[in-house]
Amino acid sequence: MSNIPSKYYVTTPIYYVNDKPHIGHAYTTILADVLASYHRLLDVPTHFLTGTDEHGQKVQQAADRNGITPQEQCDQTVVRFQELWKRLEIANDDFIRTTEPRHKAVVQQVLQELFDRDEIYKAEYEGWYCVGCERFFAEKDLDGGNCPECGRPVDKIIESNYFFRMGKYQQWLIDYIESHPGFIQPAFRANETLGFLKNKELQDLCVSRPKARLAWGIELPFDREFVTYVWFDALINYISAIGYKADEERFAKWWPCSCHLIGKDILTTHTVYWPTMLQAMGVAMPQTIFAHGWWLTGRTKMSKSLGNVVNPMEMVDRYGVDAFRYFLIAEMTLGQDASFTEEAFVKRYNSDLANDLGNVASRVLSMIDRYCGGRIPARAAISADPSDDAEAVAWSAVQMAAREMEDSVPHMKLDAGLAAVLSAVRRINVYLQERAPWGLAKAGSMAEVEKILYTAAECLRVCAGLLYPVMPEKMLALRAALGMADAKPHLGKLSEFGVLVPGTSISQPGALFPRIEVEKKEEPAPAPTPEKKNPAPKAGNRQSAMENQQSPEGLITFDQVMNVKLKTAVVLVAERIEGADKLLKLQIDLGGEKRQLVAGIALHYKPEELVGKTIVVVANLKPARLRGVESQGMLLAASLGDTLKLVTVDGAIGPGAAVK
Ligand code: MSP
Repeated sequence: MSNIPSKYYVTTPIYYVNDKPHIGHAYTTILADVLASYHRLLDVPTHFLTGTDEHGQKVQQAADRNGITPQEQCDQTVVRFQELWKRLEIANDDFIRTTEPRHKAVVQQVLQELFDRDEIYKAEYEGWYCVGCERFFAEKDLDGGNCPECGRPVDKIIESNYFFRMGKYQQWLIDYIESHPGFIQPAFRANETLGFLKNKELQDLCVSRPKARLAWGIELPFDREFVTYVWFDALINYISAIGYKADEERFAKWWPCSCHLIGKDILTTHTVYWPTMLQAMGVAMPQTIFAHGWWLTGRTKMSKSLGNVVNPMEMVDRYGVDAFRYFLIAEMTLGQDASFTEEAFVKRYNSDLANDLGNVASRVLSMIDRYCGGRIPARAAISADPSDDAEAVAWSAVQMAAREMEDSVPHMKLDAGLAAVLSAVRRINVYLQERAPWGLAKAGSMAEVEKILYTAAECLRVCAGLLYPVMPEKMLALRAALGMADAKPHLGKLSEFGVLVPGTSISQPGALFPRIEVEKKEEPAPAPTPEKKNPAPKAGNRQSAMENQQSPEGLITFDQVMNVKLKTAVVLVAERIEGADKLLKLQIDLGGEKRQLVAGIALHYKPEELVGKTIVVVANLKPARLRGVESQGMLLAASLGDTLKLVTVDGAIGPGAAVK
C-alpha cells in the first residue's frame, strides 16, 4: 500500500441507542471494520471505535412510554447493536456508550474549561426547536414553518441557555478546510461545507438544555439546572474513548484520528461543530472526515413509514455474513448513494461469489485432490517476465490486482479494489482453461500438471488474502483448505511467490458460496391466438419454410436438433461496442479455435463479469455483421421479462465440448 501510515484510528458515528439497527448502521460499521482489518494485516497499529449515543429526548420519551428509567432503556436497547456487531464479524477495539462515567467525566471537563475561558457563555434564546432532530433553528431557516431537516412541525421556545462561541471560528474553519484538501472527503462534500460557511453567518451553538424540559443528559458542571446538548456530548466520544484528559499517553498514541466515517446527513455536525469545538479546546484536527452516501431501496429513500428499511440481521440469516459484507463493500462507490435490492444482491452473489470465486476454488482444490493426491504439489518456478509463460501471466495479473486492492484502501475506493480482485479470480479460471491440466493429466505430463496447480493455488492464496478483510470467515476457510496453518494472511506475503508448502494436505471446504436458486414465478402460458397457432406460410420466407417442416404441434425432429452444433466456449476478452448500448464484443476460445461473437447482453452483464466464464454457443451459425462488427456464432441465454442469464455448464469442462 502506498503511504503506509504509522498508526490508524478509525471511528463510526455512535448510533442512537433507541434506533433499530438498519443497513446504514451496518454499512458504516462493516466499512470501518474492513479498513481496520486491512491496516492490521499490514502491521499498522490500529484502533477501531464504535458505540452508542444514549442521551437526548428520544430515549427519555421511550423510557417514559415503557415505564422504566432512561438508563434501563439504554441498557435494554444497546444489546441490539452489540449483538449485530458480533453477528457481522465486527472486530472493534472499543465500544463507547455516552452514559459511561469515562465519557461523562470528559464532557464535563471540556465544558468547564471552555466556560472558564469564556468560550461558553449564558444568554437568552428565542428560536424554533425540532424535537425529532433535537436542534434549534432561526425563523428564517424554517421550511414553510417546519423543520428544514425533517419537515416536521417545530416548537417556539424562549429560554436561557449556554452557548459555545462557534461563530468566531468561521473564517478560521474556511481557511483550514481550504488549506487541507484531504480533511473533508470526498472533495465535493468539502465544497458543500465551504458553501455553507461562505454563504451564511455562522451562529454560536446552543450547548445546553434546561432540565425542566429535558433531564436525560450530562449535567453542566457550572449550572445544575441544565444538561448538555446531545451533539456536543456525542462528538466528544471520539476523544473520551481514547483517554483524553484521563490517559494522555494513550490519547497521544491514537489522536489525531485517521478517519471519522460518517453518513452524508451528519456532515454539518462533523465538519463545522466538531472542528470548531476541537479548535476551542486546543486539540489537533482529525486527518479525515469521510462522508459516505446513503443506501436506497431501488431509487427510493429507506424509511420506516415506507416499510422499505433493510434489516441486516434478516439478510445475514438468509445469505450469510460474508456475502452480505461483500455486497455492501462491492456495491457502494464511496461517497455516492447506492441501491440495495435483493435481486441485485442475488445477481452479484451468484456471479462473483458462486460462479467465479467459489468455482475457481473448488476447481483448484478438487484437481489437487485428483491429480496430486490431495497435497500441495511441488513448488513451481515461474519466470519473472510475464510475457514468458502462462504461469507468469496469471501470477502477474494477480499481483496487479493486489496492488490495485491495496491502493484502493487509502484512496477509499474499495469497490474498485474488489472489482480488480474478482477480475484476477476470473483470470485464474482463464489460465486453467488455457493450460487444461485435465488434458495433460490424461497424456501423463504430471510435472506440468503440478506446475499449473501449484501456480493456480498460489494465485488463489493471494486472492483469499486480499478478500480476507471483507469476508473473514470464508477466506479463513479457504486458506485452511489450502493447508495454511497460520490463520490470518499478512499482506506483505502476498507479493511473494511460493508460500504454499509442497506436501501439505489440502481439504475440501464444501461449496464456499452455494448458488442461490431464485424461485421463478410460473408464467401463465400465453393464450394461443389463431394467427400464432397456424401462421400462413409466406412464399420465399425462410422462417416459414422451416415451419413447414415442423409437425402440426410445432415440434421438430431429432435430426433438426442435431443440425445445430452447440459447443462450450470460454470468454477470453469482452468489450463494449461504441455506439451500441446493448451489444458486447466477445473473443472466445472454442477449444483450439478463437472466434469473435457479438451478443446483445450489455444491459445485463458488464464486460469484466464475462471474462473466464464458460458459455454455450451455436458453433455452426453462418457469420453475420452486427453494427459493422462480425459475429461468428451466437451465445445462448435464458430470458424472462427483464431478466437475462447466460446458459453455462454445471462444473468444470474445457472449451469446445459438444453440448447435446
Ligand atoms: N447519533 C448520531 C451520530 C453521532 S456521532 C458523534 C446519529 N445516529 S444515527 O443512528 O441516526 O445514524 C448513524 C449513521 O447512520 C449516520 O451516519 C447516518 O448517515 C447513517 N444512516 C442512516 N440511514 C442510512 C442509510 N439509509 N444509508 C447509509 N447510512 C445511513 O446520527
